[in-house]
Amino acid sequence: MDMIVTQGLCKTFKGKRGAGPVEAVRDVDLQVRAGGIFGFLGPNGAGKTTTMRMLTTLLAPTRGTATVVGRDLFREARALRQDIGYVSQKGGAYEYATGYENLVLQGRLYGLTKAAACAKADAVVARFGMAEYCKRDVRTLSGGQRRHVDLGMGVMHDPKLLFLDEPTTGLDPHSRARFWDVIRTLRETGVTVFLTTHYLDEADNLCDTICIMDHGRVVASGPPEALKRAVGADFVTIGVAPEDAERARALLAGAPGVKAAELAGDAVKLSVEAGERALPALLPRLAEAGIAIARVEMSRPTLDEVFLRTTGRGMSEAQGESDAEGGAGGWG
Ligand SMILES: Nc1ncnc2c1ncn2[C@@H]1O[C@H](COP(=O)(O)OP(=O)(O)O)[C@@H](O)[C@H]1O
Ligand SMILES: [Mg+2]
Repeated sequence: MDMIVTQGLCKTFKGKRGAGPVEAVRDVDLQVRAGGIFGFLGPNGAGKTTTMRMLTTLLAPTRGTATVVGRDLFREARALRQDIGYVSQKGGAYEYATGYENLVLQGRLYGLTKAAACAKADAVVARFGMAEYCKRDVRTLSGGQRRHVDLGMGVMHDPKLLFLDEPTTGLDPHSRARFWDVIRTLRETGVTVFLTTHYLDEADNLCDTICIMDHGRVVASGPPEALKRAVGADFVTIGVAPEDAERARALLAGAPGVKAAELAGDAVKLSVEAGERALPALLPRLAEAGIAIARVEMSRPTLDEVFLRTTGRGMSEAQGESDAEGGAGGWG
């Protein structure tokens, strides 16, 4: 089943104070299957939050159609909201209540009885590992702990589809990794997760499928592995003794799967179709010729190369642009 299907989704904001209109989202076609982690990737200002706000019924599209959890975004908005959870970038927890109280309150807002809300809050605390700090006021929590509370609030009513807007922005690497683990446990329980991020490594590590946005348009979509593969070859570098280098290069140049072979110092640098398949056949060739191998390295194209290839500029450059525009894309 498809969790989200959109066709030609557009959002144009009227310009304020003489500024021209902003085409924040342009003709976005999406298909998100049930049961995985879907990453919406792009630099600041790409249109990620605007798209997510439309899909969660918080913002009316200018044009286009969308079905979310099998329900029409326009005609069945109320029923649709019961099936989705949404955690905004800022989160929605009350600072002067404890994490636990926030969870229970959220459950009550969704119509759970007091007992049911407490039981669910206990389960969320256990599942997300929040026992240590859930009885403290939210204002005293670390960034990572707060994000766990926000996430817990988003799942109190057992949504089928959970939207997370930049859930790890600003967290340190350790907190990010812990947060990823929690998101993975959600996937295991069958929740479909739709998250936005501008971290390439996050999209690569966490997401089953990604969609790359730039200037309001989708520029690439698919599983991260497939996108990277489409960019091009893997690189394999094999270090040998200097006197063997040219002989090694000539031997390897003709091996199956090798597209190009060049010398790089006392190493041979190969461009190969699929490193993991090519490598086991390459090493014996050298051994048979009596060439000792000093080191082996393999590297793959990254999502940054995917972004570069599809937009003509690097992701960090793109992030810089929106900062230069005075943070027009903003984080809010
Ligand atoms: N309420 C608004 N009014 C006018 N322009 C907006 C509004 N919200 C967002 N935008 C503009 O739409 C574009 C996309 O913003 P946004 O969806 O927040 O991007 P992202 O979440 O990818 O950083 C940006 O140029 C932003 O300035
Ligand atoms: Mg945003």
